Amino acid sequence: MQSSRTHPGNGPLALLRAEFDGTHDVWRSALGGVCVAGPEAARAVMGNRHEAVADTSDFYQNRHGVFGPRSAQIAIGRAARELIRRHLDQHRGDLPRLIVEQLTPHSQWPDAANLLVLRHLRDVLLHPDAPVPLHRTVEAIVVRAVLAGARRRHSLPSRLLFRRRALPALRTEMSARRERRRSRGGPSEPRDLVDVVVGESDPAADVGDLVEVYLSFLFATVGSIGFALGWSVYLLGTHPNSGAVDPSWTVREALRLWPVAWLFARTPSREQELGGTRVTPHDRLMVCSYLVHRHPAHWERPDEFVPQRWAEGVPDGAYLPFGLGPHTCAGATVTVRLLEDLVGLLTRDWRVSVTQDGGGPQVGPALAPPRFTAVLSPNDGCPGRR
Ligand code: HEM
Repeated sequence: MQSSRTHPGNGPLALLRAEFDGTHDVWRSALGGVCVAGPEAARAVMGNRHEAVADTSDFYQNRHGVFGPRSAQIAIGRAARELIRRHLDQHRGDLPRLIVEQLTPHSQWPDAANLLVLRHLRDVLLHPDAPVPLHRTVEAIVVRAVLAGARRRHSLPSRLLFRRRALPALRTEMSARRERRRSRGGPSEPRDLVDVVVGESDPAADVGDLVEVYLSFLFATVGSIGFALGWSVYLLGTHPNSGAVDPSWTVREALRLWPVAWLFARTPSREQELGGTRVTPHDRLMVCSYLVHRHPAHWERPDEFVPQRWAEGVPDGAYLPFGLGPHTCAGATVTVRLLEDLVGLLTRDWRVSVTQDGGGPQVGPALAPPRFTAVLSPNDGCPGRR
């Protein structure tokens, strides 16, 4: 069965897909930027070996420009990864129960995946001793801003009103933690991602900017990991004959066909030629991992779900679900580990059947799966239910 049955709809992704002719890897798009769909050009831009583009990732972009300095970006990314890694080590045994409680007997996706990740990583996002109202605020941010289609589900006035209440609550907590850290003197082990952001940033950094970095983590964890889990389950459920495959192949293939981070923005640092197109610092480059991952010169049966293709490792450099080069995702390894654990448990302990609830992929800054219902029935001798 072909995954091309799932179409990217009418939005910007569908437009770029329609514009791509399979031969020109870089072109001026009707979207208003220069689209980069060829693996070589994508590597040149993302790898940035010759400083061809302004040095920044989307993760640290904020309303003032870019959160910095670069040393703080790197330190925050590393500390966040280590915090999540430790948490995953300590709580791996919770996953079978979490699946039973969150996903059985049936669940509505992709929200179910986001809420499962929220529950599993709750203490990393905000440690249990943080004020109860702040825990509620973080949950409300997930519901109002992180879940797929959240903008559609809440009116603009209600979103603005919520923003006015939620952001000051986070700012207050950030300031209080910074003050406590100052009065205690010296660093201490971060207990959650608020501590990571406060502890690894310049003590004089704007607190509003710290809140934005924290929100990036909320989107990356609950949002992106949840959507990636959603795609893996959706593809397994809509391809019941794909056979018993290694969970890591399913995860990689899902991230290839439907990369959650599907478009990376960059600005050329000087006038130059890129894949046959002249670009200047006035252009906005849009590196499209979705198109790179389906490039006909680099992938056999590019639009099909073929997890077995991963039996021989990564075919070539035409794969960048976590970006490439100096700004490669700091959370890639912990993300893949959690996804593989969850997909491994779901396929080992459960038969998962999927019914589409209407609509196609949900294309926003992240690429979320269509809405679907998953019914989980136990495999014979299911260890998760003993
Ligand atoms: C499925 C889950 C995820 C996906 C698909 C994803 C994807 C990406 C991509 C594509 C980039 C590069 C963006 C660019 O170059 O413009 C990136 C950067 C980043 N990601 Fe992730 N990410 C995920 C989860 C996470 C998690 C769980 C963390 C938590 C540690 C994280 C932390 C970061 C950070 C800190 C950066 C900025 C790196 C830098 O500029 O040095 N990500 N991510």
